[in-house]
Amino acid sequence: MKFFIDTANIEEIREIYQMGIISGVTTNPSLVAKEGKQVKDVIEEIASLVDGPISGEVNSLDYENMLKEGREIASVHPNIVVKIPMTEDGMKVVNQLSKDGIKTNVTLIFSASQALIAARAGASYVSPFVGRVDDISNDGMGIIEDIADLFVIHGIETEIIAASIRHPMHVKDAALAGSDIATVPYDVLKKCFKHPLTDIGIEKFKAAYEGKK
Ligand code: E4P
Repeated sequence: MKFFIDTANIEEIREIYQMGIISGVTTNPSLVAKEGKQVKDVIEEIASLVDGPISGEVNSLDYENMLKEGREIASVHPNIVVKIPMTEDGMKVVNQLSKDGIKTNVTLIFSASQALIAARAGASYVSPFVGRVDDISNDGMGIIEDIADLFVIHGIETEIIAASIRHPMHVKDAALAGSDIATVPYDVLKKCFKHPLTDIGIEKFKAAYEGKK
């Protein structure tokens, strides 16, 4: 499983990208608004730093405007992936953009059947939102498992991005469930580094080196 980072903050991306861990970036309208910027400016800035797929989301909801916006977003850089919501108009846009050779990431996926529909429309990626499903006491990771099985059974090449990741257990479980990618917020990625025994071990070795024990 590959890692993407789920943020529109350039400093967070810069710090993590330097470690060679992440191979792409996802943004959404909430993350872009948090930075007080416009989506095209944010993804252009990210594309100057990261060599990999960068998702920028449309804000329109009707076919004509979504398609126009999607084409504008895609024109920013060859690595841009247009993020489209899982709606009927959205699937028409995905179909058209895939015919134009533009990559798409279908967002707000909450069931395996939605993922199958998006894949058939021509999506390059589907983004099932694990955390938001868990938030309403359902099994978010079960959806990833189902999609991974379905895509194998039917030879579908659309890649699964486990999204709405809330904690390190989600990261491990998404990998075991067969997700191709997990898009992980900065703070969760940082938590994945940590283990108390690592900290204790470092302290012990440091003390030994300094001749304290
Ligand atoms: C996916 O690409 C979204 O940006 C994101 O993972 C949504 O996560 P949230 O449920 O924490 O907003």
